[in-house]
Amino acid sequence: DKAGHKHFMAKEIAEQPAVLSDAIRHYLPANEDSVRLPGEGIDFAGVQRLTLVACGTAYYACLTAKYWFEQLARIPVEVDIASEFRYREPPLPAGTVALFVSQSGETADTLAALRYCKGKADRILSVINVPESSIARESDLALPIHAGVEIGVASTKAFTCQLTVLLILALKAAADRGEMTPEALADHVAALRGLPHLLNAALECDGAVRGAAQRLSAARDVLFLGRGLMYPLALEGALKLKEISYIHAEAYAAGELKHGPIALIDSEMPVVVMAPKDALFDKTISNMQEVMAREGKVLLISDAAGLAEAQEGIWMSITMPRVHPAIAPILYAVPAQLLAYHTAIAKGTDVDQPRNLAKSVTVE
Ligand code: F6R
Repeated sequence: DKAGHKHFMAKEIAEQPAVLSDAIRHYLPANEDSVRLPGEGIDFAGVQRLTLVACGTAYYACLTAKYWFEQLARIPVEVDIASEFRYREPPLPAGTVALFVSQSGETADTLAALRYCKGKADRILSVINVPESSIARESDLALPIHAGVEIGVASTKAFTCQLTVLLILALKAAADRGEMTPEALADHVAALRGLPHLLNAALECDGAVRGAAQRLSAARDVLFLGRGLMYPLALEGALKLKEISYIHAEAYAAGELKHGPIALIDSEMPVVVMAPKDALFDKTISNMQEVMAREGKVLLISDAAGLAEAQEGIWMSITMPRVHPAIAPILYAVPAQLLAYHTAIAKGTDVDQPRNLAKSVTVE
């Protein structure tokens, strides 16, 4: 049932404020500034290292979580693609916690990576959407994302719910390790509680995105740029676009541009820049200006303050609400998803069933 939407993907994008508030309610009890985990939970105080493993969109959720666990909880983090991790057979030093992220909980490579870690990692955690899945059953602690059934092949609401649960877990780790004052924790918790409301506001960019997508649909290649927490999101934005619109898209960390990819820039190359007005804004904008100096067409996704400062000479813009910097990637996922969706619609491709793709990849 598409609940009045044309596609499951559109329905699942629109559902995000509701499912996220569900996820938040499960992990952040009302009237408390503390994190509640299911079962026995986990104490991060003695954890030496965290290894995050997943595929595809879930892998980008892990890349985002690396920034959170390192910056907020000061835990060294490794992130890996499951198909590389499992065959590389990496050593896992004592004190390592392994965490697997999977919507379906059945992805063959992720499951094999989990099995490799048994008896080697101190604890095996998973962040999953299907509680009765193999990955959930075989981990010591399974953390459900409460996204509800996801039918569209391109993952949307599962991604933002994965991010939400991973951020909450990083907050728990920060508190366990004494790396975050109760005030700072309360500040992050309040920001998360406000997120569903902001997501509703972000969904209002639909009209602007539609216009941008119309023009993007004529492109052969699209580049996505972001820094810090916006870098993994740029990767996810590029994956969404290529998956459903079949336009070649790639993402780079904005600072990496001058080390090669800037050679691609010309007037035919739209560049999507994701840059909330945060501590890294000026750096990203200076990379954006390098693109414009080479006639690159920039679509800038930022907040009103960012756009007021950097609007000159850009091709198009999408305005996001102002948001706590730590949760920005969850909010900015919305325009990234809508951009892919409307570009695919403009091209007439099959949004819910993109060619060559399956919802659950249970073969290697
Ligand atoms: C992209 C997408 C895939 C999955 C990947 C992992 O939109 O859906 O990249 O994220 O196949 O799947 P799960 O999360 O089920 O392990």
